[in-house]
Amino acid sequence: MFALPTVFTNTDGSKTLFREDIDETYHSRHGAIAESLHVFIKEGLHYFLANQEGKNIRILEIGFGTGLNAMLSYLETVSTTIKIEYHSLETIPLPYSLVQDLQYATHWGNNEEQQFATMHQCNWNENIQVSEQFSLKKIKQSMLNFESNELYNLIYFDAFGPDKQAELWQLEIFVKLYYMMPIGGVFVTYSSKGDVRRALQTAGFKVEKIAGPPRKRHMLRAIK
Ligand SMILES: C[S@@+](CC[C@H](N)C(=O)[O-])C[C@H]1O[C@@H](n2cnc3c(N)ncnc32)[C@H](O)[C@@H]1O
Repeated sequence: MFALPTVFTNTDGSKTLFREDIDETYHSRHGAIAESLHVFIKEGLHYFLANQEGKNIRILEIGFGTGLNAMLSYLETVSTTIKIEYHSLETIPLPYSLVQDLQYATHWGNNEEQQFATMHQCNWNENIQVSEQFSLKKIKQSMLNFESNELYNLIYFDAFGPDKQAELWQLEIFVKLYYMMPIGGVFVTYSSKGDVRRALQTAGFKVEKIAGPPRKRHMLRAIK
């Protein structure tokens, strides 16, 4: 049986979860929120908004996990006019009670915590409206057999690392994602591994190795 991950304190004092069976944390050990804000929000969402027309964005995330990327993306819709349709794949859903132990509410405050609770407590495989500008569909399915006719403008590739889940970082997965994106679509991931960069290039993306989050030199951004 799958043992629940345990709470892990990062070097910046923030918390993440740790999977003992694979010796892997859900976020950077140097800062969970700092990593998500840098890799997915700044270099993904902000980059996309600065370079593309339109304010309606469809996001696909590989690995819902703690819901941190979904929540930080939702927060970007508060006080702006952007609209986000967010789809997120997950194979091992986590209980909200465990995620609450990470105390992410100290980052966004108690008023917004209700939206985070909704994201965790809503049904899987149903489209729900978290707010007028943000909808969420959590999909309980592996990326390995996920198929879709949807076109996603932005992909947050946040699976466990290539050395832990090599099957997800393969050319055939990147080709599948390539065909789920329109021209100009943006893919971001925290990994900067050479094999991953080359597989993304072979899939057809233009790949940039850019500055990573605190204490990590690089990350990858791939553009269709
Ligand atoms: C590095 S964690 C990141 C999770 C999340 N983005 C977060 O901020 O908490 C990777 C996540 O991918 C999920 N995962 C593992 N295998 C998967 C698969 N084949 N398809 C989709 N998600 C998967 C894990 O259960 C885990 O929640």
